[in-house]
Amino acid sequence: MKNIVILISGGGSNMLAIVKASKRENWAANYQAQVAAVISNKTNAKGLALAAQQGIATASLDHKAFASREAFDTALAQRIDSYATPGQPQLVLLAGFMRILTPGFVNHYAGRLVNIHPSLLPAFPGLHTHQRAIDAGCKLAGATVHLVTPELDHGPILAQAVVPILPNDSAETLAARVLSQEHLIYPQAVASLLQVQ
Ligand code: GAR
Repeated sequence: MKNIVILISGGGSNMLAIVKASKRENWAANYQAQVAAVISNKTNAKGLALAAQQGIATASLDHKAFASREAFDTALAQRIDSYATPGQPQLVLLAGFMRILTPGFVNHYAGRLVNIHPSLLPAFPGLHTHQRAIDAGCKLAGATVHLVTPELDHGPILAQAVVPILPNDSAETLAARVLSQEHLIYPQAVASLLQVQ
């Protein structure tokens, strides 16, 4: 079985969309894959309860308890790898995981580490993507699923979704429109990846 580990920091709606798709589309039978665990760097992340309700193992690892970014990433990788099945590729999905990862961590999971970012990359890497897109006068916004490389919000693009920016949009209304598309493209991109793994 290919074990998938999802990393979150907050609401976990993308995580939930992936878990639900994995059940609905029977990833266990079709791709020999399952969501094995959800790990958060925030102990009170709402998504942890949602994952538990779905019968998924959960763990939290508070980054503030570690002396350095490297120490946190080392402990995080150990925890992720504790869910690995020997000999099977393991997929690690960042779903609203709001931590910059060290090159050591990223290289350890090269080709197996995926992120979703709420903009049409390469436009607007980083934070506050929706407000920046509105301020720039863009007519379109969207989300990008990509493989993670050491440079923040770069890496080969697996999927994108495009939505309009409407005249009266706030960052919040635009974020909601984009998020509903994220819930479609992230599970699809993961399923595509599992087919070729
Ligand atoms: C999503 O919009 C995701 O694209 C974004 O955080 C939100 C998490 O929502 N990720 C980033 O900004 C990463 N830099 P969720 O917790 O409900 O899935």
